[in-house]
Amino acid sequence: MIGVFDSGVGGMTVARAIEQLCPGLPLIYFGDIARTPYGSKSPDTIIRYSRNNTDFLLEQGAEVIVIACNSASSTAADALRANYRVPILDVITPATRKAAQISDSGRIGVIGTRATVKSGMYPRRIHESRPDAEVISQACPLLVPLVEEGWLSQRETKMILRRYLQPLRRRQIDTLVLGCTHYPLLKHLITPRIGRRVRLIDSSIEMASFVCEFLDRDPAMKERLCNSGKNSRFYVSDTTEAIEQMAARIFGRPVELHTV
Ligand code: DGL
Repeated sequence: MIGVFDSGVGGMTVARAIEQLCPGLPLIYFGDIARTPYGSKSPDTIIRYSRNNTDFLLEQGAEVIVIACNSASSTAADALRANYRVPILDVITPATRKAAQISDSGRIGVIGTRATVKSGMYPRRIHESRPDAEVISQACPLLVPLVEEGWLSQRETKMILRRYLQPLRRRQIDTLVLGCTHYPLLKHLITPRIGRRVRLIDSSIEMASFVCEFLDRDPAMKERLCNSGKNSRFYVSDTTEAIEQMAARIFGRPVELHTV
């Protein structure tokens, strides 16, 4: 199975995108609701939690680990790769690859949690494929709680977004990476505020195509996973009604969450 973990249910945007792009691929998802958010935690804590999550997914039979969380990808991916032998796919690599490839001007904006922005991982990765790029990063710590409250169209959310996006507008970016699991749910508000000519990169969609490409390079593994007869399973370390609603909003259907 493909193991996917996130600090909460936001990573289901990645699981959903994988489901749509690679139908029939069984996923095992773990959302660490009890310890969310990761975006405001220290690197040591994020690494420790990410190890716990990886151990859980491996115990459940995962053969590949997808870090759906941007905060964990930017902070813990290298530590996980150094400690585990299974492939570890982080959500940052595919998004930065795409940004470097499609930006005309090389002025690329990145929005994410404080932990993601502080790690400097997005600019580092973009510069690896495009050294001339000018990367403008903006931490948007208020967006995760707004999305989790379901405030997807409220006036206050629009005002906060306008304020966060202002510096990126001023620098005339032509590409904006949505570097957080929750931001795809705000695309409809981001587009008109950043400007319609700015291309948005949804890291969940890029991650899903990266997973498909990864499996296409290993057809034996792909066949084994797709024909395993297993169904996708979703685990969380805690749940509430709001969490269940958010999971259903992301998948467009009720999702059975098992608490561990
Ligand atoms: N999943 C986190 C991310 O993508 C957002 C929520 C959190 O801070 O834990 O960065």
